[in-house]
Amino acid sequence: MAEAVLGGSAEDVSIKEAGLRYEVDGEIATITLDRPEKRNAQTFATWSALARIGDDLPEQVRIVVVQGEGPSFSAGIDLRMFTPEGVPGQGSFSSVAQLDNVSFEQRIEQAQQGFLWLRRPEIVSIAAVHGHAIGAGFQLALACDLRIVADDVKFCMKEPALGLVPDLTGTKPLVDLVGTAKAIDICLTARFVDAEEAFRIGLAERVVSGGELTQAVRDKAAELLSTNRDAATATKRLLQGARGRTLEEQTAAERVEQAARIKALFAVS
Ligand code: ACO
Repeated sequence: MAEAVLGGSAEDVSIKEAGLRYEVDGEIATITLDRPEKRNAQTFATWSALARIGDDLPEQVRIVVVQGEGPSFSAGIDLRMFTPEGVPGQGSFSSVAQLDNVSFEQRIEQAQQGFLWLRRPEIVSIAAVHGHAIGAGFQLALACDLRIVADDVKFCMKEPALGLVPDLTGTKPLVDLVGTAKAIDICLTARFVDAEEAFRIGLAERVVSGGELTQAVRDKAAELLSTNRDAATATKRLLQGARGRTLEEQTAAERVEQAARIKALFAVS
């Protein structure tokens, strides 16, 4: 009963039915949120499909681009979740409110799996963000390593305005990027952050015009692919761990990674 209420059938939905397009071209995978007529609103099926893409990502892929079709990157969670009818096959918040906490948290954890894999050291994920990136849309952009944005971008952490907290892995990267004070300002006001501010506070690496977004992402992918794959993976691992370590621990971690690199590069067979 609990699983049915919260969308147990989401696992069975195809990537297309979940509102996504997915293409792999050599070392670059591209995921496109593809429900433009609903501004790429996301459902449990979307997150389940994202998780499956992560599980099945071909080993050769080094870059994952996440982008949105139509006028918006993503308008966040499908607002039908707030209606009594909910999203067909996936329930509604009024039905999931009946679940016990453990079942509910497990279901959120499943949804979070759709986002977490984008931080794997073996890949660099790039969100190409234009138009609105609201709620779950903002969090999907935050789940990526880099954000290249169009000058019409509008980020908004709408959840607190709707009585919710951001729970799709977005709070930590937001704080890491902009600091706690700015994150409080952005989340607790649910205000829009435009391209100029996003760039200024470190949410976006680069701002380009809408027409230049695809090429800007291609150029960044080419730059990222120009470095040694194993060294890039080890370096990302080091950088990701840096905040949680002391200088002493970090320099020790550098030594471990470098020893492995030098041995791999210069090992005598
Ligand atoms: N869920 C379901 N449908 C949506 C959503 C959504 N989140 N956002 C837009 N749509 C639908 C609209 O209902 C409309 O459908 P219709 O043509 O059948 O009436 C269609 O997409 C186009 O939407 P408009 O509002 O007409 O598009 P516009 O470009 O003017 O505005 C905007 C875009 C600003 C994104 C607006 O749609 C909006 O505010 N959407 C809701 C945003 C929101 O509150 N999301 C939840 C965040 S919280 C979270 O994600 C956990």
